[in-house]
Amino acid sequence: MDVQGKRVIVTGGASGIAAAAVVAFLAAGAEVAVIDVAEHGADAVAAAGAGAPGKVAYYRASVSDRAATFAAVDAAAATMGGIDALVHAAGVQQYKPAEDLTDEDWEHVVGINARGTMIINQAVFPHMKAAGAGRIVNFASAAGMVGVRGCAHYSASKGAVLAWTRVVAQDWARYGIAVNAVVPAIWTEMYQRTRDGMTPEGLTQHDAAMAQMIPLGGRLGDPLRDMAPVLLFLVSDGARFINGQTIAVDGGMVPTR
Ligand SMILES: NC(=O)c1ccc[n+]([C@@H]2O[C@H](COP(=O)([O-])OP(=O)(O)OC[C@H]3O[C@@H](n4cnc5c(N)ncnc54)[C@H](O)[C@@H]3O)[C@@H](O)[C@H]2O)c1
Repeated sequence: MDVQGKRVIVTGGASGIAAAAVVAFLAAGAEVAVIDVAEHGADAVAAAGAGAPGKVAYYRASVSDRAATFAAVDAAAATMGGIDALVHAAGVQQYKPAEDLTDEDWEHVVGINARGTMIINQAVFPHMKAAGAGRIVNFASAAGMVGVRGCAHYSASKGAVLAWTRVVAQDWARYGIAVNAVVPAIWTEMYQRTRDGMTPEGLTQHDAAMAQMIPLGGRLGDPLRDMAPVLLFLVSDGARFINGQTIAVDGGMVPTR
């Protein structure tokens, strides 16, 4: 579990799962570079780093913008003196009936989630290849495994993240780079926005369904308690031999295949 001194890029670190991961990495003495598109990100990240032993810097870029992402990653690598790991949590979700999806909806969600994963993985690759070592943790979703009604493009984008992860895990292992995917079920701003969009009756039904679907606890997990320790482990030396896996952190909601 030791990540002291590890140089970690965390995308999406301005909120949600990744913000909790930033807090945990800094508390454990890692050096963190956050890449996020959020305007308020620098303040959020500075607050996360206050009083922690680890150092943190913020780079504002969209992972779907190739030039901006490569510039942010190269700047972070130069500042930190290298990159040991990428925790790539940045992503967007949108609910819309499949029959109403536009090309713009598809490009927005698939562009950020799937193309963004390709871009940020490619951006860290030369640094890790040169070092002969690296860890990449991509964020997939149960939506990409079993599909979630009402968000076909999101589900497609996360299916792409899973397939991409399996392939680069094999292709880049020769350079000492291990690549895994996590499948979270965690109560964050993203999930809260989904809940906020439900009617009171819908919410009651949803909570009853979750109580059935999540064997352990009956509701989504906590970012700091349930997800962050798994991310620290996947970046630590203890996880050296784990590669190409899909690791669900969801209380047993979706049995991984
Ligand atoms: N919360 C869950 O239970 C859950 C379930 C399945 C998958 N996921 C995945 O986990 C990841 C994190 O989810 P979360 O719940 O913490 O979400 P969140 O909405 O709370 O946080 C997402 C972060 O990504 C950033 N972001 C969005 N688009 C970006 C872009 N183009 N470039 C850079 N940063 C961008 C946002 O600003 C935000 O800080 C996402 O990829 C999500 O799809 C989450």
